[in-house]
This record gives sequence, structure tokens and C-alpha cells, in this order.
Amino acid sequence: MRTPIIAGNWKMNMNPEQTAEFVKAVKDKLPASTKVEAVIAAPAVDLPALLENAKGSELKVAAENSYFEDEGAFTGETSPKVLKEMGVDYVIIGHSERRDYFHETDEDINKKAHAIFKNGLLPIICCGESLETREAGKAEEWVEGQVTAALKGLSAEQVSSLVIAYEPIWAIGTGKTASSDQAEEICAVVRKTVAKLYDQTVADKVRIQYGGSVKPANVKELMAKENIDGGLVGGASLVPDSYLQLVNYKD
Ligand code: PGA
Repeated sequence: MRTPIIAGNWKMNMNPEQTAEFVKAVKDKLPASTKVEAVIAAPAVDLPALLENAKGSELKVAAENSYFEDEGAFTGETSPKVLKEMGVDYVIIGHSERRDYFHETDEDINKKAHAIFKNGLLPIICCGESLETREAGKAEEWVEGQVTAALKGLSAEQVSSLVIAYEPIWAIGTGKTASSDQAEEICAVVRKTVAKLYDQTVADKVRIQYGGSVKPANVKELMAKENIDGGLVGGASLVPDSYLQLVNYKD
């Protein structure tokens, strides 16, 4: 009943020309968005090329970040209002790289979530523990805390429509995927947290992605898990063939 959602996260890779080439290579081979939603999150500088080339295709477009104000004296930031005007569908927020390198706090992420909804976009909210936290046996508690903080003040309707990406930091870009059981365990904690904060109906609707070294070789096993509704994919989303294998994992 939840439509799977596979999102590529290009991070700070690709230029407009490469973006156009990528979309031309994949656009006619994507699954119907009612079967699997195929998303690409691109750097802000590539979004015009991504949107232009994806026009009329099944590809959905995400920004990798946005600010919590619509406009003003915020040098270097990206307006969620303008992202909406451009035709963007989703915005990733709270990625561990942004929390770590750019010092984003749970409070910032919550403000961004509100701004994204206010502008008619949908957030993909990232959470996930470090190796240290996992080894201390505190992964569940940590993720529950991050999800609770990110969702603060959002309505049941809003939460029903958003996406949460569980990405253990130790599995990102390391080639070290969480086992499908480890991934499922924490994705179940995310769903339980939503049920606790809202109710089971909302929890049954929210889509939960796993992220961290997802690739064509492990996507099927991960997607077979009850609480995993999608993937947030870095490295393996940069090459058209590999991206197509991921989004067409059902075939
Ligand atoms: P990865 O990145 O697939 O390269 O591990 C995932 C992410 O950071 O979203």
C-alpha cells in the first residue's frame, strides 16, 4: 500500500551538462511512478538542467537542502519557495553530512520541515547513528530522538505524506552496508516512533528509506523487508545503468 521510493542523492557531484546526459539516458526506462517512485536529488546548480530534461517523464526531482526562510538576507542559502516555483517535488533535509560538516541541529531540521510543507514540497528527513552510538547500544534511542525532534509540530496529515531516510553514518560511502536485518530493525523503530507520536494509521502511511551503500546487488534484499519502503542512494546513483537497476528492482 506504500509506494516504494528510490532516491538518488548526488551530493556535490555532476554539472548541468552531465545532468542532462544522465536524464536523457534514463528517462524512458523508468518505472511508472505508481509502481516505484524514482527520484534524483541534485545540487542546486544542476536543478534547472534536471527539471528541464525530466519534463514529461516519470522522474521526480529533489533538492539536497533548503533554508527555513523563503527569502531575505541569508547569503548562500536556497529558498524553498523558489524550489517550489521551479517545479521541485522533494527536499532532503538533515543528511548526516549536513549535520556533521555544516553543524545543522535537530531544531534547524524541524524548522526546515515546516518551511518545506508551507511551500507545498515534501521533505525526505534523514536520521541515523554513528558507529560510536551503535557500539554503545544506543542506536534506537538516538534515532527515536532525531525523528521526534524533526517532526515536532507537524500535523498527522503532513507526517503521513513525508519520507524518513534511516542512514547509519558508518554505512554511508563506506561500502559497508548495514545487513538487511540491521536496517529493518531501525526502520521498524522509526515507524514505531511515528506511531507513538501520532497513531498507527499515520505510521502505516509514512515511507521509510534505508540509505548507506545501497547498490544493485543488495537492493532487492533490503526492499523485501517489511519496514523498508525505499532507498536513499549516493554512489550507486551516479551512473545511469546502476540507477536504472535500482529503480527497476521489481523487474
Ligand atoms: P552511499 O550514500 O549510497 O554512497 O553510501 C548514501 C547517502 O549518503 O545518502
